[in-house]
Amino acid sequence: MTESGFFASVDDVVDRLAARGYLASAAVATTVFLADRLGRPLLVEGPAGVGKTELARAVSAATGSRLVRLQCYEGVDEARALYEWNHAKQLLRITAGRDEGWEAARADIFTEEFLLARPLLTAITGDEPTVLLVDEVDKADVEVEGLLLEVLGDFQVTVPELGTIVAKRKPFTVLTSNATRDLSDALRRRCLFLHIDFPDAELEQRIVRTKVPGVDEALAASLVRVVGALRAMELRKAPSVAETVDWARTLLALGADTLDDDVVRQSLGVIVKHQDDATRVRDRLNLSEAGR
Ligand SMILES: Nc1ncnc2c1ncn2[C@@H]1O[C@H](COP(=O)(O)OP(=O)(O)O)[C@@H](O)[C@H]1O
Ligand SMILES: [Mg+2]
Repeated sequence: MTESGFFASVDDVVDRLAARGYLASAAVATTVFLADRLGRPLLVEGPAGVGKTELARAVSAATGSRLVRLQCYEGVDEARALYEWNHAKQLLRITAGRDEGWEAARADIFTEEFLLARPLLTAITGDEPTVLLVDEVDKADVEVEGLLLEVLGDFQVTVPELGTIVAKRKPFTVLTSNATRDLSDALRRRCLFLHIDFPDAELEQRIVRTKVPGVDEALAASLVRVVGALRAMELRKAPSVAETVDWARTLLALGADTLDDDVVRQSLGVIVKHQDDATRVRDRLNLSEAGR
């Protein structure tokens, strides 16, 4: 089984991700490099909107690999995550071959042709370099972690009727979690761990200017400063990097080149998403309510 071996060095990670619009901190780049070198899955934890999902997308784009995504949700099961038999097709085959008898049909319907591969199986089959993204794993039930351990442990899947399917090439695997529940120790042990928090001001300004090139340095700086102040207020929903970028786009659309009270009042809904948060922010910034 080949390892992915995508990156030559930590700097190589930084450069190639940046070329795809993803600005990695030193901690992110180092951990990505190590996960690639050691052939270990990467578990990325952190608040919503700090670039966890985007990191997997950027690695796939930067390395020209196929991206296979398993989006987790409550109730996702083996049939959705790994594989299931295509019952409709099996039935058709049985009906069509009625004359040859059951034995002939049975020999046929449990072959790969009748198997529906779901993301985990898809990611370990095929020859091309692959990034497997298991997104928001904390939303799945605990049983799914057992499934992941099996697949990520040996990079093989056993289908009782068919045998064991072994990966030819290890996918570069990224699991993300918003930490809404604790993941099992067994799963953590298997992975390299990366916590992504809100970026520091310097990095966030660079992200804003990369995503919204029309915003000048001074405006990007004040925008990031205000967002930082809002995060410190411990709102119900702290603005994430996604909101900072949105806000920059909004200011550009409004033709604003400084962040005065009027502009903030008009565009508050872009960064603050709860009514009580909006009220607190207005009080703190001494803004009157919109339209008054
Ligand atoms: N380091 C970064 N470089 C570039 N863009 C980033 C970065 N971090 C966050 N973003 C932006 O934030 C948005 C939200 O990121 P996303 O990966 O969806 O968040 P998460 O999966 O952590 O909830 C992305 O679309 C991207 O534009
Ligand atoms: Mg995400």
